[in-house]
Amino acid sequence: MHQYAILTANNVLQAEASATILLTMMLFKRLFSTARVLQHDNPLGLPRSGTPPSFPRRRGLPEKRKIRDVKKVIAVSSAKGGVGKSTIAVNLALAFARRGIRTGILDTDIFGPSIPTLLNLSGEPRLDENNCLIPLTNYGLKSMSMGYLLPSAQQTQSDHPDHPDQPIPMDPTPISWRGLMVTKAMHQLLHSVSWGPLDVLFLDLPPGTGDVQLTINQEIVLDGAVIVTTPQDIALRDAVRGIGMFQRMNVPVLGMVRNMAYFNCPSCGTSTEIFGHGHKHLQGREEEWGVQAECRRLGVEFLGDVPLDAAVCRDADRGVPTVVAEEGTPESKRREAFVGIAEEVARRVGVQW
Ligand SMILES: Nc1ncnc2c1ncn2[C@@H]1O[C@H](COP(=O)(O)OP(=O)(O)OP(=O)(O)O)[C@@H](O)[C@H]1O
Ligand SMILES: [Mg+2]
Repeated sequence: MHQYAILTANNVLQAEASATILLTMMLFKRLFSTARVLQHDNPLGLPRSGTPPSFPRRRGLPEKRKIRDVKKVIAVSSAKGGVGKSTIAVNLALAFARRGIRTGILDTDIFGPSIPTLLNLSGEPRLDENNCLIPLTNYGLKSMSMGYLLPSAQQTQSDHPDHPDQPIPMDPTPISWRGLMVTKAMHQLLHSVSWGPLDVLFLDLPPGTGDVQLTINQEIVLDGAVIVTTPQDIALRDAVRGIGMFQRMNVPVLGMVRNMAYFNCPSCGTSTEIFGHGHKHLQGREEEWGVQAECRRLGVEFLGDVPLDAAVCRDADRGVPTVVAEEGTPESKRREAFVGIAEEVARRVGVQW
C-alpha cells in the first residue's frame, strides 16, 4: 500500500460521490431556477428592457509556477499518438544527462506511461522528509512516472478454450479516472517530486490536447516545447494543431522533429522515405506541405530528422535507449541524430552544452 496514497480507490469513490452530489444539486437548482426564468420575457431568463443582468465573475486560472529546483522545463509533445514522443523525449534527456547536464524526465502520460520501460526502471519511489516523491534514476537521468506509482499489472485467468494456461494482463489504471482525477494526478506529479537541483526537466506528454496538456500549460512555466511529428500529412496536421496550442499559451515552440523520416536499407543501403514527404491536396491541386515547408510557414525551427530504424525500437523496448546503447559507437547515425537535436534544443533554451 502506498503511504502517499496518490489517487487511491478511495479518491475515486470520493470523486464519484461528489459527482453524484453535484448532479443532485444541479437538478435542484434547475427546478428552482425554472420559476425565476418564467418571470422573464424570454426562455433564457434575460429581461427585454432595463439594465443588462450581471453575471458572477468566473474564478481566474491557476497561477503558473516554476517547478521547484528546476531551471528549465521542456515539453515534448505532438497532438498525434504513436509518433515517437516518448522515444524522442527519453533520448534527448539522455543526451543532456550524458553531457553532465543535471537532467530529469517526467512522464505525464497517466494512462500509458512509457518511461519505466524505456529506462528499465520499476518499483515504488520513496518519500523524502517533505513527503515528496524521490525520483528513480538510471543512466544518470532522474525520472518520475505514474508507472512507478501504480501496482504492477495483475494477471487474470484466461477463459480462452485454446489457451487456458495463458494469463491475461490487466491494466492497473482505474478507467474511472477522468477530468478532475487526471488533473489531480497531474498536479501531484508536477508539484510533489523532489528533483533536487536540475538544469533541465523534460516532460513526456501524452497524445492529444486534453486535460493533461491544459493542466501543464496552466500550472507550469514552460521554457519551450519540442514538437514531434512523422512525415505523413495526417501526423503533421495534428502537430500543427499542437503548435497552435502552445503558441496560444505563450509557450515558445523550440522546433519540430521529423521522426521516422527515412529508412536506410541495411542490405542495399538505399534510403526510402517510407512515410513520404507530405503533400497537401487543395481542390485537386497538390502543394508542397512537408514538415520543413510547414516550419517555414509557421516560423518554427526545423530541429532535425530521426531515421526509422529497427534498432531504435529494439533499444527502446529493452530499456536501453539508443543514446546510451550506442555510446561507444562514434559513427552511429542514429545516436548522432538524437544528440544533434539535443544540442540544438540546449542552444535554444540557453543551456550550456
Ligand atoms: N525512429 C524510430 N524508429 C523505429 N521505431 C521507432 C522510432 N521512433 C519510435 N519508434 C517506435 O514506435 C513506437 C511508438 O513510439 P513512442 O511510444 O515513443 O510514441 P509516442 O508518440 O510516445 O506514443 P504515445 O502517443 O502512445 O505516447 C515504439 O514502439 C517506438 O519504439
Ligand atoms: Mg508516449
